[in-house]
Amino acid sequence: MSRALELAARGEFSAHPNPRVGCVIVRDGAVVGEGWHEVAGEDHAEIRALRAAGDAARGACAYVSLEPCAHHGKTPPCATALIAAGVARVVAAMQDPFPAVGGRGLEALHDAGIRAEVGLLRDEAERLNAGFVSRVAGGRPFLRLKIASSLDGATAMASGESRWITGPEARTDVQKLRARSGAVMTGIGTVLADNPSLDVRDDTLATHGLQPLRVVLDSRLRMPPSATMLTLPGATLVCCTAGHDAAGLRDAGAEVAEFGAHDGAVNVFEVLAALAEREVNDVLVEAGPRLAGYLLDKELVDELVIYQAPHIMGSNTRRMFETPAWTVLGDRLALDIIEVRKVGGDTRITARPTS
Ligand SMILES: NC(=O)c1ccc[n+]([C@@H]2O[C@H](COP(=O)([O-])OP(=O)(O)OC[C@H]3O[C@@H](n4cnc5c(N)ncnc54)[C@H](OP(=O)(O)O)[C@@H]3O)[C@@H](O)[C@H]2O)c1
Repeated sequence: MSRALELAARGEFSAHPNPRVGCVIVRDGAVVGEGWHEVAGEDHAEIRALRAAGDAARGACAYVSLEPCAHHGKTPPCATALIAAGVARVVAAMQDPFPAVGGRGLEALHDAGIRAEVGLLRDEAERLNAGFVSRVAGGRPFLRLKIASSLDGATAMASGESRWITGPEARTDVQKLRARSGAVMTGIGTVLADNPSLDVRDDTLATHGLQPLRVVLDSRLRMPPSATMLTLPGATLVCCTAGHDAAGLRDAGAEVAEFGAHDGAVNVFEVLAALAEREVNDVLVEAGPRLAGYLLDKELVDELVIYQAPHIMGSNTRRMFETPAWTVLGDRLALDIIEVRKVGGDTRITARPTS
């Protein structure tokens, strides 16, 4: 199953909106076939592994990192293919998180007389597909908030100057975070201050030409039609409240969508639900302290990725988060540190809210 998970991870930058899935077929203690799901619409991991195994699949055991599907999607059901190939046993790491179909694949295998089990390395499998699970089981994408800061927690000078706080290696690393996300979201404050690109520039990461959807939260539609991101490959969605003239932005190539207002700005909850509808599994937020603080305060942040540069920027700066008045220590947010790693001269801290 470890090997199946390793194979599944090969789909990190290309499988979405589908889950990352790997499959290993073992017979008499030897691997006879392997496969992973590379691109949505193409063969699933099980089909590739069965093809590699050929006749050796008969009587074999298939280890698959997600329950084989039992329904006709863009491709025929994998459970049917496993049954037809004559495998004797199927071990899945986790059940399909789709509420309507979870368990059906295992049931179909069981009904065909195949020993079907679930749960081996479940935590690892769920972590690999946190975005997919969040979308299909929870109705909203997994939200990862990336921040570049100094050692003393500054994210920009008071003037707005923030380029570049971290080194080139950290910025290359951010390309990977973007490439594994269905959408990259920011606030209009960052667009007006930095005119960012928010694209994947490395062709080895933007496999199959996939670019994350760029999402700008811009309640009053202040986004200039000359914004750089509108000239780049990939789509940009500008989210505003009702009653603003979108003609200029649309002419410049943006998709403009109206949402309700909430807390004096465009309703983020509605935006996230709309992104889930569009099959976005993972949202990477690269925003300034206003939007970052709002998302944190509303408990919408699933994971923080902080690139901390070995610099002190002093007090004439902006912080990571503008939060509403948190006044006592009891208001603070507890985090679990998932990983701390050096990236070039900077330190990358990955953390998740404890709750
Ligand atoms: N170091 C880093 O990692 C990093 C990353 C990005 C940006 N920055 C820096 O951050 C600074 C900009 O900060 P900022 O706080 O002004 O930008 P921001 O958080 O990117 O954008 C804030 C704006 O987004 C809009 N917005 C829409 N919905 C919102 C909501 N629910 N909550 C909060 N805002 C919402 C608001 O304008 P409307 O009310 O008009 O919609 C708000 O003024 C720049 O200096 C930039 O260089 C640093």
